[in-house]
Amino acid sequence: MTGAQTPRDRMIVALDLPSVAEAQAMTERLGDSVAFYKVGLELIYAGGLDFAKRLIGEGKKVFLDLKFHDIPNTVTRATEQIARLGATYLTVHAYPQTMRAAVAASQGSGLKILAVTVMTSYDDADLAEAGYGLAVKDLVARRARQARDLGAGGLILSPEELAAIRPLVGPGVDLVTPGIRPAGAALGDQKRAASPAAAIRAGADALVVGRPITQAADPRAAADAIVAEIAGAL
Ligand code: C5P
Repeated sequence: MTGAQTPRDRMIVALDLPSVAEAQAMTERLGDSVAFYKVGLELIYAGGLDFAKRLIGEGKKVFLDLKFHDIPNTVTRATEQIARLGATYLTVHAYPQTMRAAVAASQGSGLKILAVTVMTSYDDADLAEAGYGLAVKDLVARRARQARDLGAGGLILSPEELAAIRPLVGPGVDLVTPGIRPAGAALGDQKRAASPAAAIRAGADALVVGRPITQAADPRAAADAIVAEIAGAL
């Protein structure tokens, strides 16, 4: 990951909440404990883009999880809008045309493009149904290499993919990992979760954490504990 990253900068809190009012209340509770937020499709379609702008105005880093995939002209123009907003990360699907367009449009801004290789809801049978001839692990590896070669700033990966992908892409690509569960936290729908320390030791640059913080009785204490665990693993 480029630049000096404090343990706090490596924890990205997923604001998977249905309204700006709830997101605002959560960020107020979290205060200085959190420096980096992920805003995804649910909140985006409920006024989340303006809220993301406000967070950036308050000095927070923002990861817009918008998973772009369209013709290059549209991806270019949409990425330019996100770059102007001052976001730090934007996701796109790891198709070469899409990555090329997004990376070119982000040049000269502080925005890094994160490629989504194969969504973790897909298994080999789902890929075959969608017309692909590769197994998930082979398509993930192929797209990870393409993302690096096309200048993507990073990849979204599950914790179990970190060990295989880091050697393929080298140190210059940010590996960002959801599926994080501190010891004792409920798994929810995450089937292959890793602890913050395990994910950092396996090579993650940043962790995306949602419910273990946003549904904790004391979100701020939960966030502080995860930052401390990251610090201990670095
Ligand atoms: O609440 P939780 O910590 O499970 O939230 C994880 C976040 O990361 C959610 O925003 C979820 O959509 C996202 N994510 C994930 N697994 C993936 C890709 C994205 O959990 N494979």
